[in-house]
Amino acid sequence: MTKPSETTPSASISAPIAPSPIHLRLDTPDATTDLAQQLAHQLNPGDCLLLEGPIGAGKTHFARSLIQSLMVQAEDVPSPTFTLVQTYDVAQGELWHADLYRLSALEEIEELGLFEAFDEAICLIEWPDRLAELTPAHALHLQLALDPAEEECRHLTLSWRDAKWQDRMDVIANDKS
Ligand SMILES: Nc1ncnc2c1ncn2[C@@H]1O[C@H](COP(=O)(O)OP(=O)(O)O)[C@@H](O)[C@H]1O
Ligand SMILES: [Mg+2]
Repeated sequence: MTKPSETTPSASISAPIAPSPIHLRLDTPDATTDLAQQLAHQLNPGDCLLLEGPIGAGKTHFARSLIQSLMVQAEDVPSPTFTLVQTYDVAQGELWHADLYRLSALEEIEELGLFEAFDEAICLIEWPDRLAELTPAHALHLQLALDPAEEECRHLTLSWRDAKWQDRMDVIANDKS
């Protein structure tokens, strides 16, 4: 795991994706759950997490763990594979969990009300590549990759442009180092 470099210039919303992303090795599904729980409690309305990675990478596992840790009363968290969006009420306000794999047109984003949600709710978006040029610039990117050898291991890269993530990611990087 690498920590953000001390010499990295402070990120701004117009800067390219942070030059020093954080790399984490998640050895088991529980390790992914722990990280999701840690991140969950740093989130505020208007925060958007983009969950990238192939089928089976653990995007839904991460989102489910995060959502369940914010729920006041335990509820099922189904994958939004077919509904595209599932919404939840959590202590911080509304939380949207979207899976855009089956998105057929960009107009659907607007119809779903996702634009407003990007600014007003906590959003967890699977298959965010479907957003193309509509990708929110203030989002945190989480790229999950499978390990070629170990079935239960995942590699996570966290990257961002918006400086609002820097302190929160420093907490995560310091905690895992
Ligand atoms: N380290 C890990 N982190 C997350 N999931 C893992 C890990 N190791 C194994 N898995 C398993 O991989 C599967 C991921 O499925 P899912 O979260 O639905 O993937 P995706 O939404 O990316 O298609 C789950 O069955 C989960 O238990
Ligand atoms: Mg999924």
